Amino acid sequence: MPSTETVAEPLVSLRDLHLSFGNNSVLKGIDLDVHRGQAVSIIGPSGSGKSTILRCITGLLQPQRGSIRVGTTEVHTLAQEAQRIELRKRVGFVFQQYNLFPHLSVLENLVIAPRKVLGRNRIEAEKDARALLAKVRMEHKADAYPGQLSGGQQQRVAIARALAMRPELILFDEVTSALDPETVGEVLTVIRELTEEGMTCVLVTHEMRFAEEISDIVYFTEHGVIVEHGSATQIFQHPTSERTQEFLRHALGDPGRRPPIANDPYLLSNLSRYSLSV
Ligand SMILES: Nc1ncnc2c1ncn2[C@@H]1O[C@H](COP(=O)(O)OP(=O)(O)OP(=O)(O)O)[C@@H](O)[C@H]1O
Ligand SMILES: [Mg+2]
Repeated sequence: MPSTETVAEPLVSLRDLHLSFGNNSVLKGIDLDVHRGQAVSIIGPSGSGKSTILRCITGLLQPQRGSIRVGTTEVHTLAQEAQRIELRKRVGFVFQQYNLFPHLSVLENLVIAPRKVLGRNRIEAEKDARALLAKVRMEHKADAYPGQLSGGQQQRVAIARALAMRPELILFDEVTSALDPETVGEVLTVIRELTEEGMTCVLVTHEMRFAEEISDIVYFTEHGVIVEHGSATQIFQHPTSERTQEFLRHALGDPGRRPPIANDPYLLSNLSRYSLSV
């Protein structure tokens, strides 16, 4: 029976993206789609190009070939910094290093960009900021300074700060990798809640179980290409590529099939490759 459903355009669409740094070819033909309301994860070994993909989406890097579309903006054609700043108002980006303004209180960190960039008035911007702090369970620290907070608390404030710009989507680049293990969970909880509310998110993460749990679609990258993509169940439970299987075996650990013995030559030869990313 022919379907009468209209298939929505993706919010983000990358096609045949190629990018090199000098003669280091980093992206070699990336195709990637993110639909509104989806949580999309990008996983893969260190140096495979994951952060580079996110930086292309925000216009921080210009590919040599291919196209990047965010909504109706053809990002690869933007020639002026002012146009890229416009784009970044719509695309939140949270990094491993939270980069809060150290001389501003938590509340002021959330209020400054909506006031200066979006021209919102103080009362409204503060009201929104307090609501967002409550959402990330940081309202009790509104008057504290970043230096007085734990890493996990700072990262939750950084997420609230990104949300204060009311972005169409948020990119998360390894946001928990610099945190103490006990604060990782509180940040992941905030991200999980955002995805449940239908915020469009692209996550680069080494938290494989988390990626499996919250992602609608997972992309596995290696050496600047997408080796495989599909639903979280497909990629984590039934990966078709041997490379994906091998990566997940290491990332998730598989004592049943491969005991982690110290002198395992396979493990040793691959250690440097995987240790940074998993
Ligand atoms: N600004 C830059 N100048 C030159 N080379 C760069 C730059 N940024 C990244 N690269 C190189 O591009 C490649 C991909 O880097 P990228 O940061 O995208 O990898 P990644 O998949 O995010 O790795 P990781 O898991 O370690 O964060 C690497 O070889 C890196 O050295
Ligand atoms: Mg990276």
